[in-house]
Amino acid sequence: MILGTGSAISGKVVTNHDLEKIIDTSDEWIRERSGIEKRHILEDEKTNSDIAAEAAQHALTSAGLKAEELTTIIIGTVTPDSRFPSTACRVQAKLGAVNAAAFDVTAACSGFIYGVILADLMIRNNPEAKVLVIGSEILTRITDWEDRTTCVLFGDGAGAVVMGKSKDRRGIRSTYMKSDGRLGDLLYMPGEGSTHPSTHETIDQRLHYIKMKGREVFKHAVRAMSDAARHALGEVGLKGSDIDLLISHQANIRIIDAIAKRLKLPDEKVFINIQEFGNTSAASIPIALDQAVREGRLKEGDHCLLVAFGGGFTWGSCLFRL
Ligand code: ACO
Repeated sequence: MILGTGSAISGKVVTNHDLEKIIDTSDEWIRERSGIEKRHILEDEKTNSDIAAEAAQHALTSAGLKAEELTTIIIGTVTPDSRFPSTACRVQAKLGAVNAAAFDVTAACSGFIYGVILADLMIRNNPEAKVLVIGSEILTRITDWEDRTTCVLFGDGAGAVVMGKSKDRRGIRSTYMKSDGRLGDLLYMPGEGSTHPSTHETIDQRLHYIKMKGREVFKHAVRAMSDAARHALGEVGLKGSDIDLLISHQANIRIIDAIAKRLKLPDEKVFINIQEFGNTSAASIPIALDQAVREGRLKEGDHCLLVAFGGGFTWGSCLFRL
């Protein structure tokens, strides 16, 4: 079950109107097509592991645990501090979590949900396990600021949960995870891997930035997330109306609305903060979850459905009782 939540958002707030001054776009287009009004761009001197550790520290405090009690640290991220060591190892050092194993999960926007599912399996295997799961991204550092079709969408931030064994019928009730690598090139970053090691040419060709066929991704995202939501509910015989709160990956308000409609959920059961933060990839769900808990939108005993979709393609869901 989720023992504590935390998040870390910092840096410069950049509004759609600010973007109008640097690229050919408009506040109206961005709001209507995506629901985004502003995003945070992390301070240059800060790293992914800095904000991941900050979010983690808040989650540990809310769980009433010390870093030394953690048995595993999992981070979902596509913007690690460096290729290796993993960002999770950097966070382990920053927290002083000396007893924890640590590794990153590469599943783009589904990275946090994949991490939660792994954590759940670890806890079922060892009920004493205490697992820190983080989603943390600095997407604005792999964003092509000359590509208006993508640069208006992304933002930076981190969110975290600490998980431990379930009690009082609370905890993870069902999970679902899938991928389809055949569609990988619809949303990817071609450079900075072993296929195209960084050279002057790869930089000139802008291979170190996100490439996305937005319209195609949109269609797959709605279908896959609706499918993932139905699987998680169906496994435990629940319906959309049994959910107290849906927290979807915050990629586009129209995608979230389409999923909510398919599940027949009223607005008050759908958490939306994309207007404030943009798409923060793996960080979007844990940031929203922490905000929902702090604002009292999600209370002890409530049923919450998490659902994500991202590059890979990857997608998944997790139904839990807080
Ligand atoms: N400002 C103004 N006009 C723009 C902009 C912009 N920033 N970007 C594109 N346009 C124009 C296009 O050029 C196009 O013009 P045309 O009709 O003359 O060719 C028009 O707007 C429509 O473009 P579309 O791409 O069809 O717009 P769409 O309605 O599909 O919205 C968006 C684009 C917001 C990207 C949407 O497709 C989307 O959200 N896709 C899914 C994103 C997603 O879910 N990603 C998954 C996770 S992200 C991750 O894993 C890191």
